[in-house]
Amino acid sequence: MTKTIELRGVEQRFHARGTPGGYLTAVDDASFTLAADPAQVVSLVGQSGSGKSTIARHVLGLQKPSAGSVLYGGKDIFKLSRAEYDDYRRNVQPVFQDPYAIFNPFYRVDRVLWKAVKKFGLASSRAAGLELIEESLRAVKLEPERVLGRYPHQLSGGQRQRVMLARVHMLRPAFIIADEPVSMLDAQVRKLFLNILLDFQRDHGMTTLFITHDLSTVYYLGGSVMVITKGVIVERGPVDTVMHEPSHPYTRLLLDSIPQPDPDQRWTDRIDVDEATGAEGAAPKASIPETPII
Ligand SMILES: Nc1ncnc2c1ncn2[C@@H]1O[C@H](COP(=O)(O)OP(=O)(O)OP(=O)(O)O)[C@@H](O)[C@H]1O
Ligand SMILES: [Mg+2]
Repeated sequence: MTKTIELRGVEQRFHARGTPGGYLTAVDDASFTLAADPAQVVSLVGQSGSGKSTIARHVLGLQKPSAGSVLYGGKDIFKLSRAEYDDYRRNVQPVFQDPYAIFNPFYRVDRVLWKAVKKFGLASSRAAGLELIEESLRAVKLEPERVLGRYPHQLSGGQRQRVMLARVHMLRPAFIIADEPVSMLDAQVRKLFLNILLDFQRDHGMTTLFITHDLSTVYYLGGSVMVITKGVIVERGPVDTVMHEPSHPYTRLLLDSIPQPDPDQRWTDRIDVDEATGAEGAAPKASIPETPII
């Protein structure tokens, strides 16, 4: 049976002083379905405060909606049996913006990976576990000998983020819920990260809900997109269609805020390097966009 995650009429109200009624509506009647088969990438794009992370928390079961439901395989995630819940926990995996917060600074990064091996019984011996860990690190373009034995602060943000992807690789969930995973990474590392997500989709059939405020990232990933503003999903569809023929004024506004939303310009490196000195941009100030283009 195809696994699905479905939001049906989800609403989230939070108490907020000074607002009419004493509450704000962070998510308003959100409905969508993510299917595992065929694997897909669905982006949720919107500006800060639009309700994206709240939706991620709903999908991950970290927040119970004020109204509406979140269904996994057609069943309310807050009413799953033990076996169904275990299946859900294994198959819906998060990747957050700052993995530093997830690592305990006093333990080597290996621990995050070994914990996954043990919790989900991924290997029957220590040797098999190590083999699995090394294979997964290589799958996310990390050299095991450079990562294992290190403490979190000894890795770069991009490396820490990829250790989390190695964990995902080991677990092979049907769904990855990625909340602004690349917004703190620089252009090259960001591209590497997105390519790994696309590899996971192609090679392992993983579906990603990719949350971002950056349309150029959405464009690079392709697939489909939902545009959210003030808690309301105002537009959705294939990325190409939404980008080229936006039907909602807010989507047009988002597109206008990208300096060069030219699809043929994907991945151009906009920071010019002065060939003579090798230094970054004497002249190119104007070519560095306000919105980081990956
Ligand atoms: N636990 C909470 N209590 C009260 N208000 C909250 C809570 N969580 C979120 N909000 C409010 O709900 C709205 C949506 O927040 P959310 O974090 O989902 O936005 P976001 O789109 O993820 O923003 P960002 O891009 O900045 O991460 C905001 O107005 C936020 O202040
Ligand atoms: Mg957020």
